[in-house]
Amino acid sequence: MNNVDAINKVFGIELFLFPFEECDAASLESVGKKVLLPIAPKRLGRSVKRMRSYWAGRAALAIAFKRLGIKGYIQPEPNYGYLQVVNGEGKSFSNLYVNLSHTESIVAVALSPCPVGVDIELADRDASKVVTRVASDFERNLASQGVFATNGKSLNPNIALWSAKEAAAKAVGLGMKFGLNCFEIHFAKDDIYRVKSDRIGPLSLKSPTLIIESFNPYIISICSESEVMPSGRIGRSLISSFDLA
Ligand SMILES: CC(C)(COP(=O)(O)OP(=O)(O)OC[C@H]1O[C@@H](n2cnc3c(N)ncnc32)[C@H](O)[C@@H]1OP(=O)(O)O)[C@@H](O)C(=O)NCCC(=O)NCCS
Repeated sequence: MNNVDAINKVFGIELFLFPFEECDAASLESVGKKVLLPIAPKRLGRSVKRMRSYWAGRAALAIAFKRLGIKGYIQPEPNYGYLQVVNGEGKSFSNLYVNLSHTESIVAVALSPCPVGVDIELADRDASKVVTRVASDFERNLASQGVFATNGKSLNPNIALWSAKEAAAKAVGLGMKFGLNCFEIHFAKDDIYRVKSDRIGPLSLKSPTLIIESFNPYIISICSESEVMPSGRIGRSLISSFDLA
């Protein structure tokens, strides 16, 4: 399969989860480097933990690309910092988007034919304080009704709301730099949420839609175009330390 065919085969969200606690730093870095162009500037000045997460993110992307037969590299967009998928000459692909999120022990990577945002959080994290700063009355009301659920199982509403808003902000390339208040989460149906926002980002979605997945002890929010999330649930693939060999 050639590269164009491989990219065109990504017609829905591909979610990859990589618990990387057991992996050694050198292997994460050597696999992660495969998605960096040789001219990529060195990332310096970060703690050892942050560097591990950074390389784990890139290693997860390298493995995801390999599994899907995609030949590509990533580079941060210079003004906003979201990752773009580029070819060997640094030219970005118009029909493949990626986003990643990490904790100190796991990375979530999402690939999509449309802009996509992903966020992973520990499901029992206490987000009550931060949520009061970013949630609207409408969203607080939604949370109190217990609509945040996945596969019929209720989620901690504060962390679900926080994570959903972060994924929405990342999907349009703004990240958290411009705040989360301008992204309002609305319940649609069966664990699917819509995002209302009048904030224009560098990337755009006609009908931003969100789902929240559970991967014990984490929750993962993914935001992208409604048409690539037809029935809510998203296929996920696991990456393990064996993939680094
Ligand atoms: C990106 C941001 C949402 C990260 O939140 P977080 O909870 O700490 O981290 P997460 O693990 O969920 O996400 C981090 C990833 O988001 C991606 N990201 C960075 N900026 C982004 C943006 N504007 N939109 C979407 N994704 C972005 C990156 O891939 C980053 O991982 P990396 O540094 O390993 O490449 C937040 O820190 C932010 O908005 N930062 C602003 C970035 C910025 O100002 N960049 C300026 C140009 S360099």
